[in-house]
Amino acid sequence: MSYPPQEYDESKSNTVVWTATVLLILSFVIGLLIFPPLYEAPKGEAASTVLFIGRFHPILLHLPVGALIVLSIMELACLTSTGEYRFGSAALLTLWIGAAGSVLAVLAGIMLSREGGYTGGNFTLHQTLALVGTAGVLLALCLRLYAMGQQNRELMHAYRAVFFGSFGLMSLGAHFGGNMSHGSKFLTEHAPEPMKSQMITLEKWMLSMVEPPKASANESKAQPAVEPVTPAPKPAPATSVEAPPSKTLPAPNPNLPPASVPSGKDKLVFQDVILPIFAAKCNKCHGEEKQKGDLRMDTFESLLIGGENAAEKKNNIVPGKPDESLTIQSIVAPIDDDVHMPPEGKDQLTPAEISAIRYWVQAGASATQKVSDAQFPADAKEALPQ
Ligand code: HEC
Repeated sequence: MSYPPQEYDESKSNTVVWTATVLLILSFVIGLLIFPPLYEAPKGEAASTVLFIGRFHPILLHLPVGALIVLSIMELACLTSTGEYRFGSAALLTLWIGAAGSVLAVLAGIMLSREGGYTGGNFTLHQTLALVGTAGVLLALCLRLYAMGQQNRELMHAYRAVFFGSFGLMSLGAHFGGNMSHGSKFLTEHAPEPMKSQMITLEKWMLSMVEPPKASANESKAQPAVEPVTPAPKPAPATSVEAPPSKTLPAPNPNLPPASVPSGKDKLVFQDVILPIFAAKCNKCHGEEKQKGDLRMDTFESLLIGGENAAEKKNNIVPGKPDESLTIQSIVAPIDDDVHMPPEGKDQLTPAEISAIRYWVQAGASATQKVSDAQFPADAKEALPQ
């Protein structure tokens, strides 16, 4: 069956759409040549205009989402006997808008990534699937235009297959982008049980394809960044009896001079050293206003209570046992690990800050220990009040 002829008489309007489409594809290709998608940290600082435009990514991406959802509904209507005749041109316009929105969102996304800090599995999948999806939608646009010109039903079916496939890939890619801003559990957290485990399995499997195999928990903890640089001589066996052996942090050794003796006599380790670090690097998400993962870190009590995973096991902070404390595990985990804190892209802790927090937990996670009594490892020095 062929379409009623009036629909395709307007060869002129077809030329206009073809021209607009070719221009769109050209802009996409040129945009990608100027801003090639990277999978590693960008070298050097990007121009502030680039970063400014990049920040529009979270707004722009709504355009293709909306247009392509509307198009999906229209395509279903187009499948009815007179559907293509009635809705075909409107569908073509919607498809063009959706494709243009995808191109804009992808290019702005690449510019946004020039801020740095965007690496890891979620980012890799987000960027790759969005690129493939957008290329697919552009191909679908060409196919639809051609099928309309030829009044060819088979080609129209091929177009729909390409469109729905590409939109599916794009949506999956969007999900990994959501993971980057809301945390990996955002979508699955409240999912009903049988669905939840399947979603998590699928997600893990996809991430495992793009992420390098993870170092085992112990290896990752022994990363040089958190290894104190103090070449502390091993304490004599007699003294090491009370000192629990720890791989990464020598127990405070009374024979060694403390790293620094801050002046303020009554300064407290928790109040004056640890809490300010959390306030600067963690509490935007774990403070009074937001409690991501149900964790609040702005008071001693709430920190010890812990978040959704730690509250029951009471292991957010385990006094004397940094390696068993979820907070320490999260800050020393590799940056592309899901549990790593602060999330990638956010202001990271310095090695000195990590060392100071570790020491505080190792020394008993006290609320009252004085800075003057504390023996911070030498590499924590930069994180101490001067
Ligand atoms: C940009 C927001 C953000 C910042 C900044 C941030 N976190 Fe988180 N944190 C989260 C989110 C989101 C979760 C929930 C994890 C998830 O759902 O994937 C979380 C969860 C946690 C958890 C697990 C809690 C539990 O019991 O499940 C710990 C521990 C944690 N963060 C520690 C920290 C520390 C320490 C810092 C600062 C060094 C920090 N976070 C900074 C967003 C943030």
